[in-house]
Amino acid sequence: MSDDRPWEHSRRRPAQPRDSATPARGAGSGRPHFGRPERPALKLQTTTLWYYPSQQYSDAPMGIPGYAGATPAWVVWNLLQRYTREGDLVVDPFCGGGTTLDVARSLKRRGLGYDLQPQRPDIFRADARQLPLEDGKVDFVFMDPPYSTHLEYSGEEECIGELDAFDGSYFEALDAVLGEVDRVLKDRRYFALFVSDTWKKTKGFVPIGARLSGMCEARGFRAVDQMAVVRGNRKLEKPNFHKAAEEGNFYLRGFNHLLVWKKERESARKSGGR
Ligand SMILES: C[S@@+](CC[C@H](N)C(=O)[O-])C[C@H]1O[C@@H](n2cnc3c(N)ncnc32)[C@H](O)[C@@H]1O
Repeated sequence: MSDDRPWEHSRRRPAQPRDSATPARGAGSGRPHFGRPERPALKLQTTTLWYYPSQQYSDAPMGIPGYAGATPAWVVWNLLQRYTREGDLVVDPFCGGGTTLDVARSLKRRGLGYDLQPQRPDIFRADARQLPLEDGKVDFVFMDPPYSTHLEYSGEEECIGELDAFDGSYFEALDAVLGEVDRVLKDRRYFALFVSDTWKKTKGFVPIGARLSGMCEARGFRAVDQMAVVRGNRKLEKPNFHKAAEEGNFYLRGFNHLLVWKKERESARKSGGR
């Protein structure tokens, strides 16, 4: 199955996990149980703990199955159901295998995707810190950036997956991306950020989700909500990973943060808010 051969889809080398305490997402990440994933009917998530047992929710794959670091399609589906309408322009600045584009189009939204290593002709090459978009034209932004150096992507100098959350360069880059989101998003529209925290044996823990929340707030966005999304990953089922976590006194990352924020600049100013 293509899930086991992500390089078949990539023009460049496939993303590789770099930290054994942080199992790779993507390949197999929709299969928390070995064998065929169960696919219950897709419904809106109604609590702040999000879970669905499969990466894909239908037989027509969204994005490129097996693209390392692929976003679970059902997460994007839930976000678009809640925060967008038909015809809206949805942008993904870290588009990878195009999950966001496929889900958006299946729901009659318009999708525009950018990435440093485009995997398909309908994804454009751009640095997320410099999007080729006019100001204030976008209805919703979804982004699932690299989580510090967890996976190796294109290896290019501009790749945010080359930047370490331990020395601050990662947050500097993501702050520039947030600046772009602010610039391209229409007022009173939403964006969502899907990230994992990071832990390294020699360096410790960095609460990436909390740090990014602080940065969104500092930029004047309004917090809408925050969800914990259960990570489905076959490696989380491996007993030796759990044994290492016990013996090394660390935790395997069991959830991703899903942060939802709203741009409310002009309306907030008019009503005397922040
Ligand atoms: C977690 S993956 C995104 C997965 C995607 N949502 C999907 O479902 O396939 C992160 C992506 O960010 C891209 N990337 C890294 N640095 C970037 C940058 N500065 N600008 C744009 N894309 C970048 C990587 O090439 C990788 O495809």
